[in-house]
Amino acid sequence: MPGQDNWNAFACDVTEELLLGTAQKIVDYGLRDLGYYYVVLDDCWSAGRTENGSLLANSTKFPNGMKHVGDQLHDMGLSFGMYSSAGLHTCAHYTASLGREKQDAATFASWGVDYLKYDNCFNAGQAGTQLLSYNRYNAMSQALKETGRPILYSLCNWGEDYPWNWASTIANSWRMSGDIYDSFDRPDARCPCTSYDCGLPGFHCSVMNILNKDAAIVSKAQPGGWNDLDNLEVGNGGMTDSEYVLHMSMWAILKSPLIMGTSIPDMSPQTLSIYSNPAVIAISQDPLGVSAHRVWQHPAPTVDSDDQGSYSLWVGDLAGGDYVVALLNAGNDPLTMNASLTDIFFDASSTSAGGPVPEITRGWDVYDLWANRMDNATASSILGGNATVMDRMNATMRYNSTRMSYADGLARNESALLGSRVGAIAPMGTLNATVERHGIALYRLRPVPSGGARKRDEL
Ligand code: GAL
Repeated sequence: MPGQDNWNAFACDVTEELLLGTAQKIVDYGLRDLGYYYVVLDDCWSAGRTENGSLLANSTKFPNGMKHVGDQLHDMGLSFGMYSSAGLHTCAHYTASLGREKQDAATFASWGVDYLKYDNCFNAGQAGTQLLSYNRYNAMSQALKETGRPILYSLCNWGEDYPWNWASTIANSWRMSGDIYDSFDRPDARCPCTSYDCGLPGFHCSVMNILNKDAAIVSKAQPGGWNDLDNLEVGNGGMTDSEYVLHMSMWAILKSPLIMGTSIPDMSPQTLSIYSNPAVIAISQDPLGVSAHRVWQHPAPTVDSDDQGSYSLWVGDLAGGDYVVALLNAGNDPLTMNASLTDIFFDASSTSAGGPVPEITRGWDVYDLWANRMDNATASSILGGNATVMDRMNATMRYNSTRMSYADGLARNESALLGSRVGAIAPMGTLNATVERHGIALYRLRPVPSGGARKRDEL
């Protein structure tokens, strides 16, 4: 369920103009066709309620009303995301939906809403046990269902009361951390928890803080119910290019919703090329729907810094017998990382009673998923509105999922979805890569066709 949300870049500065202008650029830049359908309006849009108690949009910010916004988005082939809170007020102190679920769900449906982000502020103390939170969020789940309109339900209670234990039966995703912050690994007292077991989720949580929390709950992600690691910060300026590549890659392999959180009209070519990588989006949209997991993590060797960071191996099952492998270097220096097939296929090896499992005794082709990242000249042409360049563009840089779904494209081995083959791992071999500081190497592994073991280019 990829999309865009205005909160990270604009907070309360929302208007119809911003929303529809953003939507148009999502279409123009090819992002809709890559799968970013949901345009989500976050907090601060309302002006209270009408006399009969219906939610009312702020008429200065939204002069033509919300139904108009929904209609315009649908005309562009996009979906309409809306925001409210399971509380007395939203987090920015606007009108919210606790106790008014049925009426508000009906209003959202009448506006053509396709997605509801449902927050947790001012919840009148109806939290603190899993059942209290479940009941409060279930009220809106049932109300949405009763409207008869399919509305994706994105629960936003920051991991409070362990939503991964109870939300999968009532919602499509659940936030599992306090709010993200545009920083790679900066500790911040406002995000006090470093573990999933968190009584005070807070905000200003760095990418590495969120990843470390998610590592413990990846088993809870499943088709139709996902851990939401929060909106992407890619493009907002607080991280380096390689940190943003890592951020995008990890959100994709962990199957977090990919919600762009930057100002789309102001995007740089580098930012567009990160959001636009079909080989990475294909991992997020893989039909098997299994989150990657962390196999190991070690403290990074330290050179001259107190905060040495860590490096880790992440592996995920993909449809059709492929695997995704991420070598993540959160350390402060470049690092040569090695992952043996025994490590990569640790699950299979550790449960095998006999000798080495077939995953280890066979060869694997290795596809680098960032190898075909769009170059800056092409990205600039797209941002500059040069459609001719876009039409001519090398198919390996782009993908149109409105013409062929990711599932179909993967089944047909569309080259745009595979990255570039950069070598192979020999039977019983090891994958090696030098990974830059705060960077990632991201690969798709595919069994070497039998009889065709390629030895010369072992990685
Ligand atoms: C927070 C939420 C953010 C944003 C904000 C709006 O609780 O986690 O993503 O929606 O409220 O006030």
